[in-house]
Amino acid sequence: MGGLISKAAELSELIRKQSEVMVVTHIDADGITAGSIALKVLKKAGIETEIRFLKQLDKKEIDKIADEGKFVWFTDLGSGQLSMLRDMDFVVTDHHIPEFSHERQLNPHDFGLDGSIEMGGAMTTFLVASRIFPSARLGALAIVGSVGDLQDSKFGRLVGLNRKIAEKLIGKSIEIRKDLRFFGKQTRPLAKMLEYNTDPIIPGISGNEAGCLKFLSDLGIDPWLRWIDLSIEEKRKIVSALVKHCMSLGMGYDEIKRIAGECYLLIHEEEGTEKRDAMEYSTLLNATARYDEAEIGLGVCFGDEKAFNRARTLLQNHRKNLSEGLRLVEEIGIQERKNIQFFHAGKDIRDTIVGIVAGMSLIKNPKKPIVAFAENEEGIKVSARANYRLVERGLNLGKAIKIAAERVGGTGGGHSVAAGALIPQGMEKKFLEVFDELIGQQLK
Ligand code: C5P
Ligand code: ZN
Repeated sequence: MGGLISKAAELSELIRKQSEVMVVTHIDADGITAGSIALKVLKKAGIETEIRFLKQLDKKEIDKIADEGKFVWFTDLGSGQLSMLRDMDFVVTDHHIPEFSHERQLNPHDFGLDGSIEMGGAMTTFLVASRIFPSARLGALAIVGSVGDLQDSKFGRLVGLNRKIAEKLIGKSIEIRKDLRFFGKQTRPLAKMLEYNTDPIIPGISGNEAGCLKFLSDLGIDPWLRWIDLSIEEKRKIVSALVKHCMSLGMGYDEIKRIAGECYLLIHEEEGTEKRDAMEYSTLLNATARYDEAEIGLGVCFGDEKAFNRARTLLQNHRKNLSEGLRLVEEIGIQERKNIQFFHAGKDIRDTIVGIVAGMSLIKNPKKPIVAFAENEEGIKVSARANYRLVERGLNLGKAIKIAAERVGGTGGGHSVAAGALIPQGMEKKFLEVFDELIGQQLK
């Protein structure tokens, strides 16, 4: 911990000496917040700056960046490509598994911390940034990044350094509340909030509009109200009815307890908007990134009203694409193998959302992990999703997908419940064979 802090101070000194810094960041919610935290403090410090968003940092992009000869601040990426950064003057603030430790890098893994739950890319960036210009509001953005990276998903709350910082921000820029952990508490009608929740999957509720309407009307609650419109009693009524419903279906305790947990509110943002709640804020940012409009996400972080409206439109569009995706999966059908299920969306579902569609498709049959394929310019994008009940039985999609993807000449990785890969076209069948077998071994 101490080492991490002094390293952050060291890197902030180095950045402060520059007259011009190019920020290069990852194109997702954690990356957008990381990038805007860096950009904001550089501007405050009077350092000339610009920002670039990348899906991934490869040799081609690195060469392009190196050619410009500027000092570069890599945020939420870079640790996996350190050996390629030799011809550059740079700092890296990242939480992905590093190639090696490096004097110009701040990464939780170098200090024995787990970068997938204890500290995200935005949080790592914030540690350096707050030494250039301290700001609790930037801390709140870092929380949005961590939540966007699902760092709070495993335990239903932030842990590690994420938590330490969150606690320091209480009353300054955030509020931590024990609450329902569903998306849309600020902005969505109750019926939709319940219908679209998939963690945990609740039979009769998840993906079931009629079921949600009946559930709420049985409780005498207007389904078109939002969660924030309800009284404490009404909220309690819903939570206890949900728990009862889950128990009557024989769902396990570990799954049921995922219904409630900690939520992070941004106290300076307007109630009833996406920006009030870290889960919704990060969803909004992801909706910009997934459609190649990360600059709009950046605008949202900078408080730009026009960008905010555009982001909302993108989010609406995103929701429409998800339901179209689900309809398509219905049409093509999900095929089963011994230990897994899968579908191939070809070019009909965008590779950036096929994983979410896969997760939602799990509702129909949550017993086996699901694999989805989609074509992109580089090959076949693979997304795999499962639930925590399977994880309890030993499942780890990230480990299995890495091995299976490499076996067919691709690359992959990820978490126990959500993982992805890129494999060469035509290798889908072979990939499924290997993956199916590995999953079988894990679940034995
Ligand atoms: O793309 P998708 O949402 O399915 O990715 C799920 C997770 O899998 C990502 O959060 C990332 O950690 C991991 N992944 C990976 N390599 C890829 C694609 C995804 O490690 N090529
Ligand atoms: Zn990240």
